[in-house]
Amino acid sequence: MASHKLLLLPGDGIGPEVMTEVKRLLAFFGKAGIVDFTIEEGLVGGACYDTHQVAITEATMAKAQAADAVIFGAVGGPKWDNVPYDVRPEAGLLRLRKDLGLFANIRPAICYPALADSSSLKRDVVEGLDIIILRELTGGIYFGEPKTITDLGNGQKRAIDTQVYDTYEIERIARVGFELARKRRNKVTSMEKRNVMKTGVLWREVVGDVHAREYRDVQLEHVLADAGGMQLVRWPKQFDVIVTDNLFGDMLSDIAAMLTGSLGMLPSASLGEVDAKTKRRKALYEPVHGSAPDIAGRGIANPIAMLASFGMALRYSFSMSREADLLDAAIGSALAKGLRTADIKSEGAILVSTGEMGEAIVGELERLASP
Ligand SMILES: NC(=O)c1ccc[n+]([C@@H]2O[C@H](COP(=O)([O-])OP(=O)(O)OC[C@H]3O[C@@H](n4cnc5c(N)ncnc54)[C@H](O)[C@@H]3O)[C@@H](O)[C@H]2O)c1
Repeated sequence: MASHKLLLLPGDGIGPEVMTEVKRLLAFFGKAGIVDFTIEEGLVGGACYDTHQVAITEATMAKAQAADAVIFGAVGGPKWDNVPYDVRPEAGLLRLRKDLGLFANIRPAICYPALADSSSLKRDVVEGLDIIILRELTGGIYFGEPKTITDLGNGQKRAIDTQVYDTYEIERIARVGFELARKRRNKVTSMEKRNVMKTGVLWREVVGDVHAREYRDVQLEHVLADAGGMQLVRWPKQFDVIVTDNLFGDMLSDIAAMLTGSLGMLPSASLGEVDAKTKRRKALYEPVHGSAPDIAGRGIANPIAMLASFGMALRYSFSMSREADLLDAAIGSALAKGLRTADIKSEGAILVSTGEMGEAIVGELERLASP
């Protein structure tokens, strides 16, 4: 039986509540004898600050480096609003992203038929939607130097951010995009602003070169990022994998998020380089939502984003596509039965707690997985 090392970092607010449902899922996999997960757990964010006065400890970082996948809940909350900047809860997540070299952020936007009416767009535009926004996560304008505000001395100030990309950064994210597409509908749309930005010119050139050299079998199109944003709300189903830089990816993935209804539904994965020796990559899986302090401790959070994030770990870290597909089907099936947590409640639906939703999904999984 395959054996994988997981590090669970529940974090703050609803993080631990939704992570409990991942543990329910892990118990199912253990019982079914499908895979042997070795599980460690650690503190991160405010929870870690309260005990250790840092957002993540060196010991936990070492465990993250040694793990096959990090499963992350959420961090933050008003309790830690005034802690020093470098030990604020988010610093734990940023440290993980940086030290694990997680340059590829995968955000699927999937619209389950049962939830098509919760989107702000018309049902036929979003029903059955299944696309991926692939965002470059460690380069571009959020990190480029110089990054300054200078007092010009004449009552004016000048702010500078620098958008910078090297060839290797574009090549590696493009490869992730093409590999993802090969396992899906085989289409990549690369988005940049080559008409006004030099990084856009290089981005297009490098993505085109990688395609010509290594991925001719995949369909590639280049779209200007502003036109792409418009197309994303006009007819999102035309896309399969959208690959784009850090800044455009930040915005486009939030737009894509709203196509699907609720924050409580959205999973994500962040991947690092493939290790030449082990052939594995560092990876962190987390829901897109935060710690939701307004509903924390009430047992009403939607666990689907967290469970679907674990589903992405099955798919991208452990090559367990069958189990990942079954988990997606189990989520769809629990929703089709009318079960809803408060955030996705609609008329006539059955209101359930975090635990009841998790239990129903694992129950559906058990049913679907049995021969
Ligand atoms: N990656 C992270 O850990 C992360 C991401 C975003 C925000 N945050 C932090 O989380 C805290 C709260 O931030 P926010 O309120 O802007 O964003 P949030 O995502 O925590 O919550 C936004 C709204 O969505 C609701 N919501 C979110 N997830 C839900 C779920 N699973 N089920 C039901 N409802 C859900 C919340 O109740 C809230 O009304 C802040 O401290 C912020 O810094 C952390």
